[in-house]
Amino acid sequence: MRYCAAAFLILVYGLFCWWCWRKYQRQQLQRNLQQKQGSAAFGAGSADILIAYASQTGQAITIAQQTAQQLTAAQKNIHLVSLNQLSAELLQQNSTLLIIASTYGEGEAPDNANRFIARTLANLQQNSLQHLQVALLGLGDSSYKHYCGFAHQLQHELQHCGAHFITDVIEVDKLEASALRHWQYYLGQISGQSHYADWSKPEYSHWNIVQRECINPGSPGAPAFHLKLVPLDGAIVSDAWRAGDIAEIGPGNSEQTIRQFLQQLGRDAVIADEIVTTQKLLHSDLMIDDAHLAELKNLADEELVGSLKDLPHREYSIASVPNENSLDLLVRQVKIASDHYGLGSGWLSLHAQLQQPIRLRVRANAHFHSPANNCPLILIGNGTGIAGLRSHLASRACQMPDLQTRNWLLFGERTKAADNFFAEDIQQWQTSGVLTRVERVFSRDALPGEPRYVQDLLPRHAAELERWVQEGAAIFVCGSLQGMAQAVDDALRTILGAGQLELMADQRRYCRDVY
Ligand SMILES: Cc1cc2nc3c(=O)[nH]c(=O)nc-3n(C[C@H](O)[C@H](O)[C@H](O)COP(=O)(O)O)c2cc1C
Repeated sequence: MRYCAAAFLILVYGLFCWWCWRKYQRQQLQRNLQQKQGSAAFGAGSADILIAYASQTGQAITIAQQTAQQLTAAQKNIHLVSLNQLSAELLQQNSTLLIIASTYGEGEAPDNANRFIARTLANLQQNSLQHLQVALLGLGDSSYKHYCGFAHQLQHELQHCGAHFITDVIEVDKLEASALRHWQYYLGQISGQSHYADWSKPEYSHWNIVQRECINPGSPGAPAFHLKLVPLDGAIVSDAWRAGDIAEIGPGNSEQTIRQFLQQLGRDAVIADEIVTTQKLLHSDLMIDDAHLAELKNLADEELVGSLKDLPHREYSIASVPNENSLDLLVRQVKIASDHYGLGSGWLSLHAQLQQPIRLRVRANAHFHSPANNCPLILIGNGTGIAGLRSHLASRACQMPDLQTRNWLLFGERTKAADNFFAEDIQQWQTSGVLTRVERVFSRDALPGEPRYVQDLLPRHAAELERWVQEGAAIFVCGSLQGMAQAVDDALRTILGAGQLELMADQRRYCRDVY
């Protein structure tokens, strides 16, 4: 009996110690979180960009701080708060809001965000946030039932208050690096500064450009190139990527850029030749400020190469499916100055030679994957956005005749003569029944009163759109973030109603890949 009592006492004591330890751990966590929150306080009142975080264990705070650093480096004035600290006044005073939100419990808000919806958003008038553009990064774990549940709830509630979403919620599964790089890409778009250091280096493999063609000669728009790439190490496997996925490209410098850089460092032509030939600086970021340049001058070549960061990655919608035996991209060449091009587009459309190894990584873009139930698809896009839509049509064409469903394409570009991208494929798909309906508009060809842009087509086909949606169709939008994305969203809200569109977004029947 005495032994039992002693054993019981030891057990109770053991449990008590464990409980103390757990309490200490939670307090330590809270202390770290408060410290992080304390150091996260950034800026005040109206700023260029408002950043808000919802975090339980600090990961979202860390990413919010990195986000603030990238935007501050882009000369943006930042205000950083937790969601509970985000007041109605701040929401009214600012026009751009970035949210980094994790999810807790079963799809619930972390503690430092648990009052935001009930105390702040719930007291706002509908459409009182129409001035606000929002981007939302959802941290979560797909093994949970409500994956990124709180982030999606925030999107729903903010949209209900009229806020405009720059892009759909960017979901990050267990801090997956490529999704965080995708977020950085949007920070580049929002800040107008697309030259930043990737938070993590993509694991590239090497591919070859086997075909490159400018497909819109004579267009009033910038040249658009259709590229076909194959892996350096052989065949494409059938599940190498899915329709809707993204190619992350590691750009390279032009020979001219490398020589100019070495000249700045006072390296002579012989060394420059050697470095150019050996491609040591091919993927290095050579945009260096004067102070740093002075430091580099004294370094030996190997040290120099080792001290430079890689160029930031670039992202392109994949326009084909593995069954087509090449990874296709549609790249709009961006000219910055007379002989100066955008990092990614200059590399792919001009500087990279055919058969020269291209750094490429496929990023799974789950939220733009085809609907699992093969429901009818309404595909809306403009310009090179047709790339992301073409992959869905190609995927469905490959599943014919087993897959019996309907697809409707609505597309806008400049001139029919020069910018009727993938016209042959589209014709074939109309003939084979893959495409049930096709509407295309060309802004430079349009006569007064005629639709000019793809968004102008929507009201003209409102009844048909409503019918397709009632029959379970999903709407996929791909193309320009500036102009098209918001105008299409507004037109769909008018035709289908805000409630219906938000419901479709929750059901993943309204998906956008805009850039
Ligand atoms: C107790 C617990 C509950 C969680 N519940 C969810 C959930 O319902 N949905 C989800 O997507 N992730 C869930 N997660 C994953 C977290 O959201 C994820 O780990 C996130 O990166 C944490 O970020 P934080 O440190 O900023 O809070 C949960 C994690 C824990 C530990």
